[in-house]
Amino acid sequence: MLYNSVDMIVDSREKTIALGEKLGRLLDIGSTVVLKGELASGKTTFAKGIGKALNIPQVINSPTFTILKIYHGDKTLYHIDAYRIENNSYDLGFDEYDDGIKVIEWPEYYMSYLPKEYVEVIFEYIDEQRRDISFIAHGDRYNSIVEEMKC
Ligand SMILES: Nc1ncnc2c1ncn2[C@@H]1O[C@H](COP(=O)(O)OP(=O)(O)O)[C@@H](O)[C@H]1O
Ligand SMILES: [Mg+2]
Repeated sequence: MLYNSVDMIVDSREKTIALGEKLGRLLDIGSTVVLKGELASGKTTFAKGIGKALNIPQVINSPTFTILKIYHGDKTLYHIDAYRIENNSYDLGFDEYDDGIKVIEWPEYYMSYLPKEYVEVIFEYIDEQRRDISFIAHGDRYNSIVEEMKC
């Protein structure tokens, strides 16, 4: 199967938040978003935008020390940071979170246990203000969502 994808340069923190908000409006309950990229590449900033789209009143910040944070808005947001998980044997129990939207900050080197279908967002640091952000659909249901991100 061919996966739909799109790649763009985003030149401010605010625009990354707006992009997250745009994706957030397209997500249904049960959706999974996987955010990849080095530290400070913009993953949590983007997650703030998803929170905005879901009308979550709290500030979304890095869940680095807790692995999982749950926020209640128009839909429930499960914000997961797998960065500190030290080995592949940790079962995050993703199936338990199907009543909301899962946003997973995921280290590139750690590939096991991801849900089968998800939209992948890759963040690359260009310079202080600019990031290269690409969206890749994994699974049919995400092809149209990635298509929408093109315009
Ligand atoms: N275009 C941009 N997109 C996202 N963040 C940006 C951008 N330009 C500057 N920044 C800054 O980079 C940092 C990104 O941090 P964060 O989103 O926590 O990254 P991560 O979760 O990937 O570690 C923030 O301090 C943010 O203000
Ligand atoms: Mg982060």
